[in-house]
Amino acid sequence: MERRILGTSGIEVPVVGMGTWKTFDVRGPADIERRRQVVDVALETDINLFDSSPMYGAAEQVLGAALDGRREKALVATKIWTANDRESEEQIRRSLGFYGGRIDVYQVHNLVEVDKRLRRLAELQRDGCVRAVGATHYAHNAFGELLSVMRSGRVSCVQVPYNVEDRLVEERILPEAAARNIGVIIMRPLGVGALARQAPSAAQLARFAEFGVRTWAQVLLKWLLSDPRVTTVIPATSNPEHARDNAVAGDPPWFAEAERKAVVQLAAELA
Ligand SMILES: NC(=O)c1ccc[n+]([C@@H]2O[C@H](COP(=O)([O-])OP(=O)(O)OC[C@H]3O[C@@H](n4cnc5c(N)ncnc54)[C@H](OP(=O)(O)O)[C@@H]3O)[C@@H](O)[C@H]2O)c1
Repeated sequence: MERRILGTSGIEVPVVGMGTWKTFDVRGPADIERRRQVVDVALETDINLFDSSPMYGAAEQVLGAALDGRREKALVATKIWTANDRESEEQIRRSLGFYGGRIDVYQVHNLVEVDKRLRRLAELQRDGCVRAVGATHYAHNAFGELLSVMRSGRVSCVQVPYNVEDRLVEERILPEAAARNIGVIIMRPLGVGALARQAPSAAQLARFAEFGVRTWAQVLLKWLLSDPRVTTVIPATSNPEHARDNAVAGDPPWFAEAERKAVVQLAAELA
C-alpha cells in the first residue's frame, strides 16, 4: 500500500483508508463483531486510516470498540458536527473517549460553525490530543466557503466528494489544495456504492490488469489515486472481502491519462 503525506500535517496516511458512514452505524453483538472483522482485514492490508463522525449514529463508538487493544495501529479521522457550543464539547469528550484520548485528524463536518470550531480544534492541537485539523463538505454549493477556509491557512487537509461521475473538485478544490500543500481526503469514491453495483465486462476490465486491478471497484479507486493531488480515498464497507478488494487499488503503478480517460468512458457507457 502506498502512503502519502497528508498536506502540511506531515502525517503519513495509506492511500486507501476507510469511511464508516452507514456501514458502522450498527447495534447488536453480531453486527458489531462483523465490523471488527472489517477492521481486522483493513489493518492486515494496511488500510489503517478510518474516518467517522458524530453524525454517523453509532459509527464512532463501533469503530472505537473495533480498535480496542490496537488503537496505536490506526489513524483516526473524525469530526465535530454541531452549531451548539455545549454539544460541541460533548462531541469532543465522547470522541476522545472512544479513541484513547487522541484524534489524528479532527475535521469540521459540513463547515458547521466553522470559525469557532477551528479555533477549538487549534487549542486541542496545541494541547497535543489532535495532530491535524481539517474541514469537510459534501455539497458543491459549499465549495466556495471551503476554498476560503483553505486559503485561511487554518487547515492542513480537506475532505470532499470525488469520483468518475462527480468531478467538480477538479476545477478549483484540487488546484488550490496542490498549490497550498493541503491534504485531500476523498469521500464517496464509489458514489455511495452506486458506481460499484454495475460493472463493465471482464473483457473490458482486462486492460487494467497490468496495473494490478481486476474489479471495477478497484479500477474506480485507482482512477482517483492516479491524480497525485489526491492524498487518500476512504471507501466505506460492511464487508471484509470488499475491504480486501479495495486495498489492492492502493499499490502503484498508477494510471496514465489514457487509462483515466478509458475509465470515464466505461463509466459513461454504464450510466
Ligand atoms: N456521503 C457523504 O455525504 C459523506 C459525507 C461526509 C463524509 N463521508 C465519508 O466518506 C466515506 C465514504 O463515502 P460513502 O460511504 O458515502 O460512499 P462510498 O465509499 O463511495 O460507498 C460506500 C458503499 O460502497 C460499497 N462498497 C465498498 N467497497 C466495495 C467493493 N469493493 N465492491 C462493491 N461495493 C463496495 C459499500 O457496500 P458494502 O458494505 O456492501 O461493501 C458501501 O455501500 C463515508 O463512509 C464517510 O466516512 C461521506
